Amino acid sequence: MLWMAKSKSGSEVSLKKMGSPQQKIIVAVTGASGAILADRLIAALAGAGCGVHLMVSAAGELVTEHELGKKPEELWRGKVAAMHDVRDFTAPPASGAAGFAGMAVVPCTMGSLAAIAGGVTKNLIHRAADVVLKERKRLVLAVRETPLNRIHLQNMLAAHDAGAVICPPLFAFYHRPADIREAADHFAARVAALLGVEIPDMPHWGEGDQFAAG
Ligand SMILES: Cc1cc2nc3c(=O)[nH]c(=O)nc-3n(C[C@H](O)[C@H](O)[C@H](O)COP(=O)(O)O)c2cc1C
Repeated sequence: MLWMAKSKSGSEVSLKKMGSPQQKIIVAVTGASGAILADRLIAALAGAGCGVHLMVSAAGELVTEHELGKKPEELWRGKVAAMHDVRDFTAPPASGAAGFAGMAVVPCTMGSLAAIAGGVTKNLIHRAADVVLKERKRLVLAVRETPLNRIHLQNMLAAHDAGAVICPPLFAFYHRPADIREAADHFAARVAALLGVEIPDMPHWGEGDQFAAG
C-alpha cells in the first residue's frame, strides 16, 4: 500500500518513508475492551523501528490489567520510546512542534471518542488527538462498543469529518487466523498501514494464496 503526498517543493513523496526508524508515533490506550489490540500494535510499531510514545487512560490501565493480567508499565515500559502520564500536558504529544507522524487510539472508548469529536481536551490523550488533527496528521480511532447508539454514531461522523480515520476492531477472517492473537496482529498491521508504517511479513491481499485449496 502506498500513499502519496505533496512535499514542500511540490513533488510527490511516499508516506511509506514515514516508516523509517526516526518515525515517532503516539499510541493511546483507553478503557475499552481489547487491550490485546494495543499490545499487538505496540509490538508491531516497535518491531518496525518506530519510536512509540504511549499513554494509557486511568480506565485503560484498569481494563488492560483485567484483560492481560499485567499493568501497562510491566507490559510496555521496555518496548516503547516513552510513556506519558495522561495528566502531563507538558509532554511532547501535547504540542504540534514535537514532530509526531501520527496517532492511534487503540482501543478507543465512546467517552474518548466524544471528547476528541467535541474538541474537549481533559487529558493528554484528547489533547494529543486534537493536536494531530490540527496538524493535519493521521489519527486512527479503533472505536469499540456494541451496539452503537445515535450519540456514538454522530461522534464517529464528527471525528471522521474533522480528519480522523474511524477504524473499529472488526477482525478479518479471510486470512484464517488461528487464534485471537493472530487476528489482533492482522488488525494491528492494518492500523500501522494507516499510519504509513509497513509491517514486515504481513502479506497484502492478493500477494498470498488466500484462495488456495487446503
Ligand atoms: C472491563 C471494561 C470494559 C469496558 N469496555 C468498554 C468498551 O468496549 N467501550 C467503551 O466505550 N467503554 C468501555 N468501558 C467503559 C470505559 O472504561 C469508561 O467509559 C471510561 O470512563 C472511559 O474512559 P477513557 O476514555 O478515559 O478510557 C469498559 C469498562 C470496563 C471496566
